[in-house]
Amino acid sequence: MSRVLLFTGKGGVGKTTAAAATATLAARSGRKTLVVSTDTAHSLADTLGATAGAEPTEVSPGLHLHQVDTQKALERQWGDLRDYARGFFAELGLDEVTAEEITVLPGAEEVIALLELREQARSGRWDVIVIDCAPTAETLRLLALPEALDWHVNRLLPVGRRLLRTLSPLIRRVAQVSVPEDHVVGAGERLHRGLLEVRELLTGPDASVRLVLTPEAVVLAEARRTLTSLSLYGYRVDAVIANRVFPAGGADPWRQRWVEAQAGHLAEVEQSFAPLPVHTVPYLDAEPVGPAALARVAEAMYGASDPFAPPTADPPLRITPEGELILALPFAEKGEVDLARKGDELIVNAGSYRRVLALPAALARRSVREAVLRDGFLRVRFQSGGPDD
Ligand SMILES: Nc1ncnc2c1ncn2[C@@H]1O[C@H](COP(=O)(O)OP(=O)(O)OP(=O)(O)O)[C@@H](O)[C@H]1O
Ligand SMILES: [Mg+2]
Repeated sequence: MSRVLLFTGKGGVGKTTAAAATATLAARSGRKTLVVSTDTAHSLADTLGATAGAEPTEVSPGLHLHQVDTQKALERQWGDLRDYARGFFAELGLDEVTAEEITVLPGAEEVIALLELREQARSGRWDVIVIDCAPTAETLRLLALPEALDWHVNRLLPVGRRLLRTLSPLIRRVAQVSVPEDHVVGAGERLHRGLLEVRELLTGPDASVRLVLTPEAVVLAEARRTLTSLSLYGYRVDAVIANRVFPAGGADPWRQRWVEAQAGHLAEVEQSFAPLPVHTVPYLDAEPVGPAALARVAEAMYGASDPFAPPTADPPLRITPEGELILALPFAEKGEVDLARKGDELIVNAGSYRRVLALPAALARRSVREAVLRDGFLRVRFQSGGPDD
């Protein structure tokens, strides 16, 4: 299995730099490494001082860069679905929707890039896969969508499909819109399964997220919210990277003020994100571009620690042998967390984020007895019998 490392954080804080530096270090330590970007700007290639090809390209010994051509990938993966959308829009009297327009949907391109990643992970070629993600984990949250839809797809689709087959001529006439043809439903299902597989890979036992920030109040506030939501959606965060830390000493009053402010924020990061390790990277006197500069960034970032060791922290969601459900929700406040039960699903809201959790069979028929939020963990206990006891 490949060790999968994801980098996310607010826009511009140094995600691409941290990802490229980590990948450079992995390759230099003899690991077959793939670094992937989900953004369409070619910053990752620029940072590595390389040119990306359509397929993973070796940009320095052992380091392969994959800049996914989302347009091509879309043609390959969403062909059927696009045909459906096209027909649907045409019947509504709208212009054809083109592949280019589908990619305008927020997050679509990142999701496509992640779907492509599945094949790379399956190939078993890579010891380490580094992913430079979109800002503030937007895409990673999007991947939770199929989980919410899973129930419906699993239970309703087989019936729905039979029904559609019988009814579609009728519906077509009455509603004047298209009903998905069988092969289109198949494409929808494939996409759905693909998303679930990517999510499994990225939340699996060999994957972890590194949260990049700069020691500034606004950035910190957003990093906290990102950590809460990553945890809610089941991603394991295993480190914080504090980038662009001003070096102290010999400073003029302007820099001295920054040094002091950052020191305050850094202390807060250390304390409030504990037990996560906080790796700091100094504000360099030039942009770290190219393998040599990136290797120096990685050295400063990780020091003596092993950035490729398997993650040791518990996954955010656990169910104890006693049947207690424990979900880590760091930084979540009591007033912003609530819980609802719908059939065999548990719906957890934390601030503006929501996760629909399909309960395992053992808990699905038991009603919630008690839920407490304490020390960053939501603990849910269930009745011992069925919901009617
Ligand atoms: N420690 C550092 N010292 C000096 N410059 C840095 C440092 N880290 C990053 N930079 C520079 O800051 C700029 C932004 O960094 P980077 O592209 O890694 O951020 P990002 O979080 O990926 O941005 P985006 O959200 O746009 O993807 C780049 O020009 C990069 O070279
Ligand atoms: Mg970037």
